[in-house]
Amino acid sequence: MIKTQIIKSKDLKKDDIKQLIYQTIQAGQTVVFPTETVYGIGGDALNPFAVKQIYQAKGRPSDNPLIIHIAKKTDVFLYAKHVSSYAKLLMRVFWPGPLTLIFDKKEHVPKETTGGLVTVAIRYPDHLVAKQVIKIAQKPIAAPSANLSGKPSSTQFKHVFDDLNGRVQLMIDGGDSMIGIESTVVDVTKPIPVILRPGFITKEMMESILGVKVVDHSSDKIDGPVKSPGMKYTHYKPKGEVKILKGSSENMLIYIQNEQNKLQKQAIICSNESASTFNSFYVKSIGSMYHLDQIAKNLFSALREMDEMGIDLIYVEFFPEAHLGHAIMNRLLKASGYQVIPV
Ligand code: TXA
Ligand code: MG
Repeated sequence: MIKTQIIKSKDLKKDDIKQLIYQTIQAGQTVVFPTETVYGIGGDALNPFAVKQIYQAKGRPSDNPLIIHIAKKTDVFLYAKHVSSYAKLLMRVFWPGPLTLIFDKKEHVPKETTGGLVTVAIRYPDHLVAKQVIKIAQKPIAAPSANLSGKPSSTQFKHVFDDLNGRVQLMIDGGDSMIGIESTVVDVTKPIPVILRPGFITKEMMESILGVKVVDHSSDKIDGPVKSPGMKYTHYKPKGEVKILKGSSENMLIYIQNEQNKLQKQAIICSNESASTFNSFYVKSIGSMYHLDQIAKNLFSALREMDEMGIDLIYVEFFPEAHLGHAIMNRLLKASGYQVIPV
């Protein structure tokens, strides 16, 4: 068990706190920090020892590669062998921001960081504290989401504390994540961009900038070799079983009433618009159907709240899959083990 020290983000101005962060990263230890998407567990991306500490803190399989976080665009050339012209355009428009790009890696990027792959994931986050940490550390920062492997990502400091207290050296409390789901991951090593994980930057947004089709492989079946190792592992799972119900809220209600089992504690996660249909149940409404960014922001905390309440069976409303809805449903499908019930 490590003695975890907690820092408030406003204290990053203080010289002794800066020194603490610098020394922790330089010593190959771990620092949890907020980003605009979700919290991350950071360590020196070029130090295999530090990378091992990150995998250990999360309990993550070591073949699932990490994203290198940088604090200025041109740092991409330090780690990527080749940056295509369309990749440069994506960087110009969407960086800093919730977009991770996959490049062929330069030799010196450790294989521990890339999970043994010859490619490397790079992101320039759009969050003051994240940028400060990378600058103070004077290192590129490898950072997966700051949750125990398999659990929903952390979007509030409380989530980080619950999962990682005693497993990391430092934690920076920077309040709630603005976006709430992880960055879009795009492979830019090919002639056309390929989405490996949908996120806040959508296919449509990238296509409108690039003027070409963007391919989406994020829902590909995972029988053969996987394109992104993260695709093959369990993700975002609360303790209770998650079932997605696809249909009107009235039909959802009928289904839930018919299936009701006195021995199970049940709850419903849904949009504000549907909430009143489920009056007699424990309902968690997470935002308007017409503002999917609200749903994205509150989704992981709602799943975690279900664990706190000891819920055994979590019904979730199916959200339309266009635009940001695609990323939301990607997370929910994984959380449910792909259980979608038409009602
Ligand atoms: O928003 C985010 O991306 C957050 C914050 C902390 O920046 N980070 C995050 O990291 O979500 P993580 O490790 O939880 O997810 C990274 C995903 C994984 O699915 C991983 O398999 C994939 O990116 N990935 C990383 N390197 C890759 C590579 N070289 N090729 C393909 N996929 C890669
Ligand atoms: Mg993750």
